[in-house]
Amino acid sequence: MNNKIIIINGPNLNLLGEREQSQYGSITFNQLKENCLKKGKEMGLDVEFFQSNIEGELVNIIQNARETFDGMIINAAGFTHTSVSIRDALDLFKKPIIELHLSNIYKREDFRHKSLISGVVTGGIFGLGAEGYILAIISLHKTLQNENR
Ligand code: DQA
Repeated sequence: MNNKIIIINGPNLNLLGEREQSQYGSITFNQLKENCLKKGKEMGLDVEFFQSNIEGELVNIIQNARETFDGMIINAAGFTHTSVSIRDALDLFKKPIIELHLSNIYKREDFRHKSLISGVVTGGIFGLGAEGYILAIISLHKTLQNENR
């Protein structure tokens, strides 16, 4: 059965609800997590929701996910724009990956316009706020269902 997905969140996303509400909305990290787990359950997916502020921890989680998970949604947050190591780890995950950003990174400062991970993911969603996570879950569900056929 192809139904295990992991949602990985990078630095500072634990402070959603508190940080820059104009960019990220008022949803808290716990509310976001609950919404994602609820949507996953509804769709028959086994969802793990993870957050870390530490680059190496994110690399470890992505490496270990190769064995356990069928798909991944990742908001690498600030590391999107800086981390070759996270990109390299993602490149080793040979299953569907959706890159996610709450904000529209192309409407913001120049340094956010470059994503080091876009070149190794299946597709991406940005600028749709917390709803983007739900859309990513629906999309991954569809992809995994097609793989199960
Ligand atoms: C973000 C965008 C990044 O540029 C930023 O560093 C974040 C969050 C987003 O979800 O919009 O922390 O990934």
